[in-house]
Amino acid sequence: MLTLNRMDGILNCVPKSCIVADIGTDHGYIPVKLIERNIANYVIASDISSYSIEKAQTLIERKNLTDRIYTRVGYGLSILRPREVEVAIIAGLGGTLIAEILEKDKEIASTISKFVLQPMQQQRALREYLLNSGYTIENEILVREDRNRYYVIMVVEHGQEDVMDDLDYYLGRRLVEKRDPLLPEYILYNIKKRCDILANLKKSRNANIVSDKQLKLEREIERLKEVYEHVCKG
Ligand SMILES: C[S@@+](CC[C@H](N)C(=O)[O-])C[C@H]1O[C@@H](n2cnc3c(N)ncnc32)[C@H](O)[C@@H]1O
Repeated sequence: MLTLNRMDGILNCVPKSCIVADIGTDHGYIPVKLIERNIANYVIASDISSYSIEKAQTLIERKNLTDRIYTRVGYGLSILRPREVEVAIIAGLGGTLIAEILEKDKEIASTISKFVLQPMQQQRALREYLLNSGYTIENEILVREDRNRYYVIMVVEHGQEDVMDDLDYYLGRRLVEKRDPLLPEYILYNIKKRCDILANLKKSRNANIVSDKQLKLEREIERLKEVYEHVCKG
């Protein structure tokens, strides 16, 4: 099986020949790769930090790509005009911050057809926001770097998606539906994470008191085990 790194995973999710915004570009690696690999026609690379944009601009000039990548400084999607780009990438930020960025400039967001989102943490919070705010998660992929550093990459469009099961928030429906190759180990990793939290919770409180948090974790562990049995082994 070909294993992708985080960067390749993100690039693979961007459709060919589009006009792309890379929000929170930092060093500018994503826009440079989008042009070098002939994926995007041109890219608007932005960051809230002017220091990051200086770094990105230096790289873009060194690569002679100033006619294909344009830099801007500012918060989230506010640096864009309506319909200026077809795809927006927001990668390497927390899920809650990505949700805030989409929410803050809803009108701009409504003119962008596709989003490639890669939350570093709070994936559940991001899915909850998306699925309750008129977005649909078209696809999700998992990538792993090192031994157990997992990244979730979401391809998101506008639309309505019904949520039948809490699992859609904390695991991701598309990962299960298409049986992502990393799903079995990712489920085991998630079970272990919850078991560790549960063990710490039990240590820190009177063992007779069963909290809501404990019950929720136990339910999620059971559900994850079921999915593991049915989807990954079945
Ligand atoms: C960890 S870097 C990610 C760089 C790159 N996107 C990647 O995935 O490799 C996060 C970047 O997001 C920028 N950032 C944080 N909040 C932002 C916001 N609200 N709007 C735009 N950029 C933001 C930070 O300044 C930082 O450069």
